[in-house]
Amino acid sequence: MKPGANSQPGFFVVFEGPDGGGKTTQSGRLFAHLEKLNYEAKWTREPGGTALADLIREVVLHDTTHEISPRVEALLLSAARSQHVEKVIRPALEAGCVVVCDRFKYSTVAYQGGGSGLNVGDLNGLNKFSTDGLDADLVILLDIDPSEGLCRKLGLGGAGGSETNKMELRGVEYQERAREQFRQMASESPDRWLVIDGTGCADEIGDEISRRVTKELEARSIVPTSASTGRLI
Ligand code: TYD
Repeated sequence: MKPGANSQPGFFVVFEGPDGGGKTTQSGRLFAHLEKLNYEAKWTREPGGTALADLIREVVLHDTTHEISPRVEALLLSAARSQHVEKVIRPALEAGCVVVCDRFKYSTVAYQGGGSGLNVGDLNGLNKFSTDGLDADLVILLDIDPSEGLCRKLGLGGAGGSETNKMELRGVEYQERAREQFRQMASESPDRWLVIDGTGCADEIGDEISRRVTKELEARSIVPTSASTGRLI
């Protein structure tokens, strides 16, 4: 078996990108596809993923009673991530699961680094500490012009209309800096990152993602549960 980024039996796929690019739709769709094929799969998201991390999510995204500096924000997100990795992601990977995660540590580099201007080297160090060195095997960047993404998300002429968070209210330039940071990370690690135009047809995007993930699973000899136990699908 070809080992993944973390030499664990499972496979870790992360969806990243500006708000409104379709991460939640496409990560849910991939999860459903994997389940249909009888892979042991788990869907999760950040910020959040455990009860404690969900409490921190609420503070970071919606609390307006406390002044939270960019540094404190990065630390809160990292604390949530550490709990999520320790309690949910690593155990699932160790059990051989395909873990599908809607955002991960790359968002901290993009938003708190690119967006808020914190030092990217410091954030990489913080990410290494909070995740104990866990990397994704594959990062899917659903890339979209933030103005279009925000329109979709905030429902201004798009099909969005979901609840807004503090990040989305930081303006389009903040989002543009975050997007640039995502694109830079992708260009630095082209083997790990798959960049997809988030404005394309959702069905075609879903098919492209399924093909790529299936190929990677085959390369690592990760097989559906039914195949490994000899059951007929
Ligand atoms: P997301 O869950 O994608 O938003 P929604 O609940 O509306 O679908 O992400 C919430 C916001 O958190 C998003 O604007 C990006 C931001 N974020 C950071 O700034 N840093 C991080 O490390 C993470 C994980 C998210």
